[in-house]
Amino acid sequence: MTETEFIPKAYTNFPEKGKVGWKAPSNIALVKYWGKKANQIPANPSISFTLDVSATITQVSYTKKKVDSNGFSFDLLFEGKPKEDFKPKIQTFLERIEPYLPFLKKYHFVIETSNSFPHSSGIASSASGMSALALCFLSIESKIQDMELDFFKKKASFLARLGSGSACRSIEGDLVQWGHHQGLEMSSDLYGIKYPFVVDPIFKNYQDTILLVHKGQKQVGSTVGHNLMHDHPYAEKRFEQAHLNLDKLKPILEEGDLQGFMQLVESEALTLHAMMMTSMPYFILMMPDTLEIINKLWRFRKETNVPICFTLDAGANVHVLYPESVKEKAIQFIKDELVAHCENGHYICDQIGTGAKQLFEE
Ligand code: DP6
Repeated sequence: MTETEFIPKAYTNFPEKGKVGWKAPSNIALVKYWGKKANQIPANPSISFTLDVSATITQVSYTKKKVDSNGFSFDLLFEGKPKEDFKPKIQTFLERIEPYLPFLKKYHFVIETSNSFPHSSGIASSASGMSALALCFLSIESKIQDMELDFFKKKASFLARLGSGSACRSIEGDLVQWGHHQGLEMSSDLYGIKYPFVVDPIFKNYQDTILLVHKGQKQVGSTVGHNLMHDHPYAEKRFEQAHLNLDKLKPILEEGDLQGFMQLVESEALTLHAMMMTSMPYFILMMPDTLEIINKLWRFRKETNVPICFTLDAGANVHVLYPESVKEKAIQFIKDELVAHCENGHYICDQIGTGAKQLFEE
């Protein structure tokens, strides 16, 4: 599909008011998105596990404006309180999505949002936050104009991408690929799609224990981070590698090849950080505790053969990934050895999830 296919035909009816609510999950990339072109187009394809517990709940009330005005009108409440510092991000999002949802200036919105995880946890809330918000606005459009479910999911992902790239992978579960890749004909730079190939059941209930090593604000924001890939000496090779890793992942997922999976996922995580260390300016986002965790995990895996591995996002926190069949052993090891490296001992037990859910529509 092309961008223009997401522009609706002229509306004929406008409801006076209403309210919609969605819960959207976060996701964790296996092959990472790092680097983008204009209009939120990724420099390389990526794939992620949709999460289950880490999610954002958003409800949007809409009331038709009495007098048409040229700007956007909205109030924003985060965890029940007005949140002025989130407003510029929402304003930018509205500006980007308005061509595709041309009813937005006709309404006043009250956006109420909250996360299932602490905002200060350093967990990316932009993926779940932007996908929940995109779903709410698109639900409103679906009351104005009918749309097929398949189109609804694509457009939700398309809109979420304009808020935050990785958010387009948070509409569906349980594995989502985003970005054009030769090995998957229907893949697109414009939206994420549910991974259509065979996946061994071992990957179906995969667990993700998120170790919160550092809960503060991120040292490098995502926009600055992605921009570091412009003129990066290794950029082209890295983008090529992401394509190759997606090719390699296909038989790994199909055959339930845990060794291949762990190697690929850990290499992706370390490559992401290597890109940050070799850009100009350069950053080290891992912390001493991040490395302690990685080393302890490697030692444990070697000694016990328990198939647990790690991945990282653009920060110090560690996602520990393992099949459900070894959950007891993995959790015991995490509690005994790794939790000591978490800030205030905090961690989140998450797992692969089925995607966003509508909560209500009034
Ligand atoms: C390291 O999706 O947060 O988590 O498009 O600028 O909002 P923006 O970036 P964002 O970047 C996520 C980068 C990553 C890897 C990934 O999720 O694929």
